[in-house]
Amino acid sequence: MAMIDEMTIPGPGGTAGLDWLFHAFKLGGVELRNRIVMAPMTRRRSPGGVPNEHVIDYYRRRADGGVGLIISEGTYIDHPAANAHPGVPAFHGDEALHAWSRVLGAVHEAGARMFPQLWHVGSVRRPGVEPDPTVPGCGPISIWENGTQVVRALTKADIAAVVESYARAAANAERLGFDGVEVHGAHGYLLDQFFWRQTNTRHDEYGGPLANRVRFAVETVGAIRNAVSRDFPVVFRFSQWKSSDYSAQIAATPQELSEILLPLVGAGVDCFHVSTRRFWEPAFPGSEATLAEWTRRLSGKPVIAVGSVGLDRPHESRLFRDTANIAAEVVGVDRVLEHLQRGAFDLVAIGRALIADPDWAKKVRSNQMSRIEPFTKANLESYF
Ligand code: PHB
Repeated sequence: MAMIDEMTIPGPGGTAGLDWLFHAFKLGGVELRNRIVMAPMTRRRSPGGVPNEHVIDYYRRRADGGVGLIISEGTYIDHPAANAHPGVPAFHGDEALHAWSRVLGAVHEAGARMFPQLWHVGSVRRPGVEPDPTVPGCGPISIWENGTQVVRALTKADIAAVVESYARAAANAERLGFDGVEVHGAHGYLLDQFFWRQTNTRHDEYGGPLANRVRFAVETVGAIRNAVSRDFPVVFRFSQWKSSDYSAQIAATPQELSEILLPLVGAGVDCFHVSTRRFWEPAFPGSEATLAEWTRRLSGKPVIAVGSVGLDRPHESRLFRDTANIAAEVVGVDRVLEHLQRGAFDLVAIGRALIADPDWAKKVRSNQMSRIEPFTKANLESYF
């Protein structure tokens, strides 16, 4: 039995609380029809890196279902070591870009906006993976496994090349008509590997103090900003947690968080997407404020929150694609509304709940919470 918790708290203008979710929002030059964002979720369903008809249909269904903004699954930039898994879509090359413009057409037709998420996996890559199996991974430091070098430490010239690759992808996104871009700086992938002291033990200006560890991300955002129009939104996604360690932290205090955020704001970030596993949890001892709330306060920028929205439990498995014990029941949006109302964040991203039910936003809006489909093991296995 689904656990339903419907909510009517006073909203803007004294109307029902749900209105907090369905007010338009302006991000840079782009108007979003509501506050609901589809979270980026890797699917590995684009053979050869090219989104196919199923991918078009997958995104069209979520746009039809009423979300305001779709952030694509991670899509890899044109640096040779950017990808780690077969079937992940590319964001370069005529064929993949043409396919993305067809995805975008379907999403726009249904009234939603769309940003590609620009991804470089860094040291998660191992040789043998597409697009060129001979290319090893790359990251802040070299990694050897059984006497073989599997990850190469990036030189300064390599870093400059990756930065340019991000900028080319963003320029292509704008040229194709996308409404903005999101930079993947979270979850233990390339930019986050530089943020985190544990994975970044470099001794040059990209390692050491936090100001050095954010340099790569700052240069990336700056190059993107120079490659796109002024009002083209650039979202930066970050997290404390890593795929390899849920308890990891890149910032132990609000002060450290501001040392990460402020240089990124200076480089041109328009919005932060704060990835947590449970959006309501306090971020630091001594305060109830969430990571999204701290980010909004410290950066002065709009924030997207995410983390188990609409579901009664987070995905607890450390193995990302482990389907055991994955099922979760539907819960209402009372807590989301309360956070929106008190200004803890501006937009909310929905992940698994939108895989389970593409019509999640429409059903919430029409107060048909009891008709929302719960998240099942089969959902994760099929990813539709
Ligand atoms: C995944 O493939 O499970 C995955 C990809 C990107 C993320 C997180 C998880 O940021």
